Amino acid sequence: MNRLLPVMIGAALLGSAQARTLAEIKKAGVIRIGTNAEFKPFTYFEGLSMRGFEYDLGNAVASQLGVRAEWSSQPFDNLLISLNGDRFDLVISSHGITPERQKAVDFSTPHYCSGGVIVSRPGGPKTAAQLKGTTVATQVGTTYVGQIAKVVGTKNVRTFPNNADALQALRAGRVDAMVNERFYSLEALKTAKGKLQQGDLLFQEKLGMAVAKGNSSLLKAVNGALKTVQGNGTYAKISKSYFGQDIRCR
Ligand code: ARG
Repeated sequence: MNRLLPVMIGAALLGSAQARTLAEIKKAGVIRIGTNAEFKPFTYFEGLSMRGFEYDLGNAVASQLGVRAEWSSQPFDNLLISLNGDRFDLVISSHGITPERQKAVDFSTPHYCSGGVIVSRPGGPKTAAQLKGTTVATQVGTTYVGQIAKVVGTKNVRTFPNNADALQALRAGRVDAMVNERFYSLEALKTAKGKLQQGDLLFQEKLGMAVAKGNSSLLKAVNGALKTVQGNGTYAKISKSYFGQDIRCR
């Protein structure tokens, strides 16, 4: 139930790993960024190349810091543990900023605002009320798990390591619905060509970039870079290219 437990254990085990300061990152000329790149249109692979809104935004932040971004993709559930183990300097993977996660890592100011929506097959549940008594799929380690559990109970939540597997379970009729990120779901609906429908927004959240707990020099620089790119048109341009709109928090 407590998704933070592994993060806390990870942090405790790896707590001795020293996060690189801004000065060290600048000296190396490279910032290591971790993500779960199966989350179109945020971070995803097209052939061997990573793409996406967060990929472009992360590169824009890196360029503000005067360094090159080196990206790696890992299972979502591992990202914050790897961050505290100093395998990355920064994690950009649509993490909802929650008090629970804030015990383990530090978050930037939100880089966008969104939420979790219900997706089902035509005729299936579209509202929170209709979800009651059904089984619902989502990705393990996400904020969706707890939000779904509030509606259907923990035992009716089916978690999958990858979103693609959750989606597949829904399409194959092994679950009644899926709850996932609003824009990820829109993308999935496009691909499903009428075989899936979008329901209500179940909850809203603010998404942030994560640095290791206490890495204040990097956090400050990332927040500064975000502010700059949000002010100079770069953010709006990137956002519009993926979503047709500016998704910053208002
Ligand atoms: N916003 C959700 C959370 O904070 C899900 C993020 C999933 N991200 C991903 N790249 N798969 O837990």
